[in-house]
Amino acid sequence: MSITARQRQQPDRNLALELVRATEAAALAAGRWMGRNQKESGDQAAVDAMRLMLSTVEMDGIVVIGEGEKDEAPMLYNGEKIGTGNPPQVDIAVDPIDGTRLLAQGRPGSLSVIAIAPRGTMFNPGPMVYMMKWVVGEEAVGAVDMHAPVARNLEAVARAKGKDVNDLTVIMLDRDRHDELMRQVRETGARLRLIMDGDVAASLLALLPDKDIDVLLGIGGTPEGVTSACAVHALGGEMIGRLWARSESEAAQARELGYDLEEPLTTGRLVSSSDTFFVCTGVTPGDLVDGVTYTARGATTESLVTRGKSGTLRMVKARHTFDKLMEYSSIDFD
Ligand code: FBP
Repeated sequence: MSITARQRQQPDRNLALELVRATEAAALAAGRWMGRNQKESGDQAAVDAMRLMLSTVEMDGIVVIGEGEKDEAPMLYNGEKIGTGNPPQVDIAVDPIDGTRLLAQGRPGSLSVIAIAPRGTMFNPGPMVYMMKWVVGEEAVGAVDMHAPVARNLEAVARAKGKDVNDLTVIMLDRDRHDELMRQVRETGARLRLIMDGDVAASLLALLPDKDIDVLLGIGGTPEGVTSACAVHALGGEMIGRLWARSESEAAQARELGYDLEEPLTTGRLVSSSDTFFVCTGVTPGDLVDGVTYTARGATTESLVTRGKSGTLRMVKARHTFDKLMEYSSIDFD
């Protein structure tokens, strides 16, 4: 077979392979806080390590989805410039720990996450904390209609996947606000998996064909939605949702700021370029990636690394030496 000119082009840079060092560093630092019941300390350890490592990455980044506004978040705040300042110009979404409570309570599923997209392409949720989300994998693209009843959507997803609705597994955050949604899912006969936290990992489980999750459904963080949409661009599948206001006054504030609460937030609206990078490293053990393990000589991590442009997915297992660990250590164990 002859090699075309396109195939002969110089391979370009995969930024995700540099970003994974930052999520690894965050996971290594935060992993020490597993089960210590100190949410803030675990998160802070991850923020410090991630920021340090991100500062070395050759990019001109602006944090669009960060730890909050500058006055409440001294690091990785929305608007903070990250990287060396050289091109490419990018938007950055950071979630040093998705699942701070999972980490604090020593439960499975907490991750350290970074996503990147070209400058100006990430949806800015402003003060809108929550959005309704449906996430499905590649086979079920087009099956979900935001305005259709849950049962009709699940039937369409099942049909697209060649399954019966009873064979579907829906993953959902275990929240009182989901009582009615849970009832509707149960009524269809689909299986329901409730999780305490971490809907970034849950979204990826719904996207990946080899995991026993078919649909993520429910109201979760809007920042986590934008972050997960970067992975959708690489893995295929679909995210669709809309902003969700907690109260009438929040809805009124959103409208005043120009947000349309009925607008469908598709993958393309959440991140308007498919030239994305998404990386995550497990902190506590989970179904998506393993957590950090510490050994006599250092530690191991597992990360998932994707790139939207090429659709590449890599699982990166890394071994870290004891010296490296000391650089990230945030606890004095003496
Ligand atoms: P944190 O780790 O930042 O606390 O987020 C965990 C999380 O479960 C997210 O994955 C999810 O999107 C969001 O919280 C849901 O918010 P809430 O806990 O307020 O329902």
